[in-house]
Amino acid sequence: MAARAPAECLRTALGSLSMQSPLIAAAGTCGVLDELAEVSDLRWLGALTTKSLTPEPREGNAPWRLIETRGGMLNAIGLANPGIDAFVHDHAPRAGGVACRVIGSVAGHSVDEFVQVSGKLVAAGLQAIELNVSCPNTADGRHFGSDPASLAPLVKAVRAATTGRALFVKLPPDGDTLRLAAAAIESGADALTLCNTYPAMQIDPESRKPALSRGSGGLSGPGIHPIVVRIVHEVHRVVAKPARVPIIGLGGVMDWRDAAELIVAGATAVGMGTALMVDPTTPRRVSQGLASWCARQGVASIGELVGSVRP
Ligand SMILES: Cc1cc2nc3c(=O)[nH]c(=O)nc-3n(C[C@H](O)[C@H](O)[C@H](O)COP(=O)(O)O)c2cc1C
Repeated sequence: MAARAPAECLRTALGSLSMQSPLIAAAGTCGVLDELAEVSDLRWLGALTTKSLTPEPREGNAPWRLIETRGGMLNAIGLANPGIDAFVHDHAPRAGGVACRVIGSVAGHSVDEFVQVSGKLVAAGLQAIELNVSCPNTADGRHFGSDPASLAPLVKAVRAATTGRALFVKLPPDGDTLRLAAAAIESGADALTLCNTYPAMQIDPESRKPALSRGSGGLSGPGIHPIVVRIVHEVHRVVAKPARVPIIGLGGVMDWRDAAELIVAGATAVGMGTALMVDPTTPRRVSQGLASWCARQGVASIGELVGSVRP
């Protein structure tokens, strides 16, 4: 009989967040909360991440704000979301019934805004918070994620407001990732999410206009996968492993091989975004592929393969 849930060997923990699988649906790619459940069985995921939530509702950028490229997708959605109060009222009551863990993604213009939104998510019962300090598609979306000196006070302030919950910090792929990762860990992060989309642009040569209304956006999908493998490998080796802080590897995972590659590079968990838009049932295929891979590698737990890259 076909398996109906992830194999035991896939059990994973990120700080205080225990999960049935290392697979995580990435912020902004699976709905505000659990809309993905309409087209995919969430039991194949360890967790899903909410859309990044801000104090006020945001409409995001004008269209076009999502286009296909050869290497994946370019988006400049601009953090369109209902705002934290509407989320708490209309969506959060469903969170306890979701078939995987729920990570609340938080964005804002200031430390106070991050603290306010994180606090409301904790009060609503969410077990984990992810700070999106790396959005390339808003005016100040990368303010805190481009300078360790700005990032540290933000993470410390949110840490103090989220005691007992798992706190993740999501970094950009194109900055001084090692110093940012070190600052996040020293300030209390329980895990690092590596990475957000890569700043990118497409231009139509006939109209000579950018394809996205905002001009540039963020690249996701297969084109960024090898970049993220390199970042995960380096951050794991230099900063995260010595501090015993886990990494969520995120970028261009389309099948189990991509996920396994990130795990061998040093990721404890693996996010998926673009793949869910291509085929929302991808988590089942990836989960089954990872379980077979564990068996072939002769390990009882996928954790034994984290950072196991050979010289
Ligand atoms: C349409 C779209 C919307 C996104 N929205 C968010 C968001 O609200 N918050 C966030 O932290 N990342 C957001 N991201 C980035 C993804 O969570 C992820 O970091 C990125 O897509 C790389 O993973 P992938 O290659 O598997 O898609 C978004 C990505 C896409 C494609």
